[in-house]
Amino acid sequence: MSEQRIKIRKAVETDLSDIVNVWKGNIKTINTASDIADLFHSFEKYFFVAVYTDTAHKDTNREWFEDEVIGFVGGAIRRGHGHISGIAVDREYRMKGVGKWLLQVVSAEFLADGFDRVTLEVRKSDTGAITFYEKLGYKRSYIVKRYYADGEDAIVYEKKICAQEED
Ligand SMILES: CC(C)(COP(=O)(O)OP(=O)(O)OC[C@H]1O[C@@H](n2cnc3c(N)ncnc32)[C@H](O)[C@@H]1OP(=O)(O)O)[C@@H](O)C(=O)NCCC(=O)NCCS
Repeated sequence: MSEQRIKIRKAVETDLSDIVNVWKGNIKTINTASDIADLFHSFEKYFFVAVYTDTAHKDTNREWFEDEVIGFVGGAIRRGHGHISGIAVDREYRMKGVGKWLLQVVSAEFLADGFDRVTLEVRKSDTGAITFYEKLGYKRSYIVKRYYADGEDAIVYEKKICAQEED
């Protein structure tokens, strides 16, 4: 696959069902489609999608189509700082820099709006996501006991962002 076939753009209303699918298909959550739609409508400015820019092709084990959503990030403003409500990349497109790119894009949007601190919660057991966030400079802040509906603890991570984020 050529990464040049992927671009990141602002999410629009017609992306919402794809965002819901990627969110629910990749993140262990009890968020309903309606919860995700509420977040989207409250913070649309901070939602971005990674999409194809090519016509139909088969370079993974299924066909993908132009402008098909392969990842998203959903940002929000919470208590005066940026917050990552959700981020996911389709399994077939992970480990290619798409997640990092999505976080960089939403962080730039936060910064442009004057928010230089970003927080997020991650499941204590989610070692993959934890490595991802730590590689991108997020620092462990504190634990919220039984944060998730199934009783798992969340680790809150945060990062101070600046204009000169390296690639
Ligand atoms: C977490 C997630 C968004 C990462 O997206 P991605 O596109 O695969 O990440 P990238 O390719 O941009 O990775 C950036 C860096 O993190 C590392 N990384 C990413 N996922 C990793 C994993 N599971 N294990 C170890 N390292 C990982 C990459 O190796 C890369 O490191 P490098 O800069 O040294 O090369 C993706 O794995 C995903 O959608 N997971 C399921 C949903 C989820 O867990 N969301 C977060 C919790 S809400």
